[in-house]
Amino acid sequence: MIKVKKRKILLLPGDGIGPEVIAEVKKIINWFNDKKSLDFEIDQELVGGCSYDKHGTPITDEVFYKALESEVIMLGAVGGPTWDNLEFSKKPERALLKLRKELKLFANLRPAICFKQLVDASTLKPEVVSGLDIMIVRELTGGIYFGEPRGIKPIENGERKGINTHTYTTSEITRVARIAFDLARKRSNKVTSCEKSNVMEAGQLWKEEVQELHEKEYKDVELSHMLADNCAMQLLRNPKQFDVIVTDNLFGDMLSDQASMLTGSLGLLPSASLGAKNKDGEMRAMYEPIHGSAPDIAGKGIANPIASILSFGMALRYSLDLDKEADILEKAVQDVLNDGLRTKDIMSEGMKETSTSAMGDAIISKLQ
Ligand code: IPM
Ligand code: MG
Repeated sequence: MIKVKKRKILLLPGDGIGPEVIAEVKKIINWFNDKKSLDFEIDQELVGGCSYDKHGTPITDEVFYKALESEVIMLGAVGGPTWDNLEFSKKPERALLKLRKELKLFANLRPAICFKQLVDASTLKPEVVSGLDIMIVRELTGGIYFGEPRGIKPIENGERKGINTHTYTTSEITRVARIAFDLARKRSNKVTSCEKSNVMEAGQLWKEEVQELHEKEYKDVELSHMLADNCAMQLLRNPKQFDVIVTDNLFGDMLSDQASMLTGSLGLLPSASLGAKNKDGEMRAMYEPIHGSAPDIAGKGIANPIASILSFGMALRYSLDLDKEADILEKAVQDVLNDGLRTKDIMSEGMKETSTSAMGDAIISKLQ
């Protein structure tokens, strides 16, 4: 068989359950290398709390430059109680935010799909969630996460003041809205844009810019505007009304956690953080499960690797142009769920409880 182009994948397992779930992704990448003659070149580095412990910084320059050179970054998770009291700039999360910001990964795609096998794992009624397929597009490099001024400063009377700034510019809004409209065209052609235009100027600008872009370039796509608090409510009341939701960094953070529970478990949801394509069509991208480091279950071998494995599926699709391979991988996940295999987080009566690595192995056996 002919070997395809060499492609660099940087694994950043991070903290908590990160290393356990990324280990399963590594097995899958190796399987594709061995069995499908795909020549992925894997490298692995420390990031987050583990990097702080070894190097005194959540991400070293060396690792950052490696990330800059990699076509695909697979991140596990960062953070945990061990590092909670570190000074702000040393916190594990700073590594993640630096990668997002400096690699300009402005569009965060968070699909929430309710697998039919897991309808009962959701806390919502089956008829509300079965068949659910939403794509949340979260702006990832702007808004209150990065706005200046920021900080904590002393004020009069011995009090202190915490400051963060929420800002958006026209181009920051339109480039992420464009991603949402383009995705909608390949799905059910509907975009819901969420902000708080009733109380925030930046929200008003968001709404106006999305509306203007729609009128200029995307009239064929159905667009509605929704206040973010209403969206939170509608996601529980009738989530199937949504196709693509586009929203800012902070609302996207919250709404995607909420949407994940419609699918049964945070352990199932993948994500892709994409940058702009350069003139040669190349794009930087980082893929990660939306769950965190889950320190309470770390090291026990019970974490669900499916979110990470599906994140690699998104990498195959969005970065590596390997749609067929992504289909095979997603099908293998479905097959394993059909067989009744479950990690603890999605366990229900009559199913077979399995460990992190046994879940990875089972998915690989379905790939064969
Ligand atoms: C997420 C996480 C991160 C965020 C944290 C770990 C910094 O919650 O990816 O949703 O707030 O963006
Ligand atoms: Mg979050």
